[in-house]
Amino acid sequence: MRAVRIHKFGGPDNLKLEDIPVPSFRDSEVLVRVNAAGINPVDTYIREGAYATLPKLPAILGREVAGIVEDVGDGVSNLKKGDRVFALLPENGGYAEFVACKEENVYPLSEKLSFSQGSGLCIPYFTAYRALVTKCRIKPGEILLVHGASGAVGIAAVQIAKAYGLTVAGTAGTIEGMDVVKKVGADHVFNHREKGYLNNAVAAIGGHGFNVVLENLANVNLGADLTVLNQQARVAVVGCRGIVEVNPRSLMLTEGSIIGVMLAGATAEETQETAEVILRGIESGWVNPVISREYKLDEATEAHHDIIRTTGARGKLVFKL
Ligand SMILES: NC(=O)c1ccc[n+]([C@@H]2O[C@H](COP(=O)([O-])OP(=O)(O)OC[C@H]3O[C@@H](n4cnc5c(N)ncnc54)[C@H](OP(=O)(O)O)[C@@H]3O)[C@@H](O)[C@H]2O)c1
Repeated sequence: MRAVRIHKFGGPDNLKLEDIPVPSFRDSEVLVRVNAAGINPVDTYIREGAYATLPKLPAILGREVAGIVEDVGDGVSNLKKGDRVFALLPENGGYAEFVACKEENVYPLSEKLSFSQGSGLCIPYFTAYRALVTKCRIKPGEILLVHGASGAVGIAAVQIAKAYGLTVAGTAGTIEGMDVVKKVGADHVFNHREKGYLNNAVAAIGGHGFNVVLENLANVNLGADLTVLNQQARVAVVGCRGIVEVNPRSLMLTEGSIIGVMLAGATAEETQETAEVILRGIESGWVNPVISREYKLDEATEAHHDIIRTTGARGKLVFKL
């Protein structure tokens, strides 16, 4: 099969498209013929060797896929050959024509979504759900700021929060990104590259500040986030690429909290609960990933450049096989 592997940690040029054997699978596993594989920022951190848990080399990157069940192990009871599925891959392996997945990490993919959309569910939607519902315990009527709403996690967060009855303000860095954020349901949209946008956001929601902030770039925004909080607000730190200075006094005044979010920290029960809500959301129609661009496997170097270096997100980047 064709797969994109790395033989050493480093820059995007280390991604090599190779012909390798189809993986074997255990009794408890499902072999998925991959139709689309999600591309996530975490794949680039792993490729660089700059992530807490690193795979043995050579390694196939990719933490989420969608496709068709090709074969199942003897111990698999809920899936069969030919099923449309999407899957979370905690141990990577998605940038390939086939991947072996634990049955518990494989979910049925509704005909309502394309394979590309299915390959953008596990990381963005499960993470946004963890941030908003599991950690911040959002309530109907609250006001949320999604700081970085035009990317994969941000769009998921907007859709989840609207389904839970919140008022949502989202930010993007371009007109095109702002259009996407508006289309997926945000009540207010601001450009995080414009001077004074946070003051405008607070004014638009009535001047009392946000109950919840989902922060996708904490190293840039966390200090400012703390200045736009309502009483008892929660700030979920989902993305962070460096150090930031904050004034904790802002938290004292609002009795606010900063909450770190890590998808990998979810228990099996939490993941199951999350999956059930997302599956229901797909059927109801409010879970509807936006695909920005589909890449071929031989465009992996470009895809890794784009996911981390380009601005102007408009949804999810995926490999389409
Ligand atoms: N904690 C976890 O378990 C977990 C799980 C998944 C992802 N993440 C992290 O979450 C972050 C978002 O992931 P993603 O997949 O959504 O990435 P993505 O699709 O590349 O989106 C990145 C988002 O950040 C926005 N952004 C850029 N500059 C910004 C600024 N100055 N202020 C606010 N937002 C800004 C982008 O907007 P423009 O391009 O429009 O400027 C875009 O909306 C990444 O750092 C990722 O590593 C964490």
